[in-house]
Amino acid sequence: MPTSDPFDTVLVVDFGAQYAQLIARRVREAHVYSEIVPYTITAAEVQARRPTGIILSGGPKSVHVEGAPLLDPVVYELGIPVLGICYGAQLVAAQLGGRVARTGRGEYGRTRLTLASAGGPPSVIFTKVPPAFDVWMSHFDGISEAPPGFRATATSADAPVAALEDPSRGIYGVQFHPEVVHTQGGQDILKSFLYDVCGCRPLWTMTSVIEMSVAAIREQIGTEHVICGLSGGVDSAVAAALVHKAVGEQLTCVFVDTGLLRAGEAEQVEETFRRQFNVDLVHVKAADRFLAALDDVLDPERKRKIIGATFIRVFEEAAADLGDARFLVQGTLYPDIIESGTSDAARIKSHHNVGGLPDDMQFELVEPLRNLFKDEVRAVGEELGLPEEIVWRQPFPGPGLAVRIIGTVTRERVQVLQAADAIVTEEVRRAGLYRDLWQSFAVLPAVRTVGVMGDERTYAYPVVIRAVTSDDAMTADWARLPYELLERLSSRIINEVPGVNRVALDITSKPPGTIEWE
Ligand code: XMP
Repeated sequence: MPTSDPFDTVLVVDFGAQYAQLIARRVREAHVYSEIVPYTITAAEVQARRPTGIILSGGPKSVHVEGAPLLDPVVYELGIPVLGICYGAQLVAAQLGGRVARTGRGEYGRTRLTLASAGGPPSVIFTKVPPAFDVWMSHFDGISEAPPGFRATATSADAPVAALEDPSRGIYGVQFHPEVVHTQGGQDILKSFLYDVCGCRPLWTMTSVIEMSVAAIREQIGTEHVICGLSGGVDSAVAAALVHKAVGEQLTCVFVDTGLLRAGEAEQVEETFRRQFNVDLVHVKAADRFLAALDDVLDPERKRKIIGATFIRVFEEAAADLGDARFLVQGTLYPDIIESGTSDAARIKSHHNVGGLPDDMQFELVEPLRNLFKDEVRAVGEELGLPEEIVWRQPFPGPGLAVRIIGTVTRERVQVLQAADAIVTEEVRRAGLYRDLWQSFAVLPAVRTVGVMGDERTYAYPVVIRAVTSDDAMTADWARLPYELLERLSSRIINEVPGVNRVALDITSKPPGTIEWE
């Protein structure tokens, strides 16, 4: 398992805001390793992790409400630098003897911040910002009095203590959010804290992450045989490439071709892994089996279950043929671990199996991406030389095109959708929008409509274009694609895909729609 040992570690204490992950990512962008920990962490647990710095995140609560989340006060005594952000800054004030007032005048959005001119030179965390600048505020309570030993280092119109510090104890607080892009110089403030206060070294680069992972994978696997399921997506591809770099021929990749993949995906996996990387690849061509299992199945949930179960059986058979493999690679990412609320690998194992593989497969897991955010996984993929098409591939559902073919899934309908979908991808890429969109694809409904082509009346399928923007797939907005792009999509799909005579656009956001149609 990769460890963070060669790196300085900053702990981001999560007080329940959506900002903790963003803070952690910003710290890593400054090339310092960060980990998110729950606010219930004890001082002893903090010490055991030997962090170089601690950042307290914002949070939705007021320090005045009953049951407000508090930090173990002994943490402030450990001699480890602390930066409180928003709620975290109020907590510093409230727990160390200052005052937080319910002012009734909160600050939301862009606010002018002025550095305090009295009381000495500017704070070390403000050395790279001008004397006054715009910051992003989002708070209701405000710090009205700094604790004994602290001084206010910045003010705003409604916040007499918009930033505070006691450098002798290494404790700092900012009422605003340096992690959001709307705060001018926000990243510089974080960097000053990391480098100048904590003394962190900027060692967290993708090159060193790869070196560290390779060493850890070698140590874990030894001389044993390891297998990795490839899906065609970025996570399994990067995980496989890392493990291959570490143990070479001891790795066998298993690629289950369900026949429900996007056009060219199977060929891309072959080309990349077998030919470019020289990986031992088992390519299981199981399209017939999946199509037979889906024969006449209309219900979306049944489709999903059948595909999941068939996938497991096919993968198990392929794994059994390999005989002696002891390890299984999984592309678990850091957000999966944060979301499952634990850093304990054993507990998340059952939730993030490749394709939902059962626990009784008796593999030990290798999870080389478990410390990484998605953007870091992509950076590692690029560094390892994986092709752009894989590294930047949009998400794709496990059940594949089957949940985009409404009604019966037949070989003919899969081919129609693959052809239309390939045009959508090609044109979206050509328009330079592929990376900006969360997903863009074609859907094949189960109806036919009348049209006229040449002098002939047609009676054929429509294709629906679905393109959405999103941060996390929990919510999504339909993408406002340029008319010229829509026009090209319409004319190319109708002219080039036999069996299609109409193109429609899905303009539904999520909620109320889902991204996929089934
Ligand atoms: P929906 O359609 O629920 O999808 O808005 C949210 C995100 O999840 C993907 N998705 C799936 N991924 N197995 C997967 O691995 C599935 O069964 C599945 N269904 C949806 C979808 O593509 C979108 O990114």
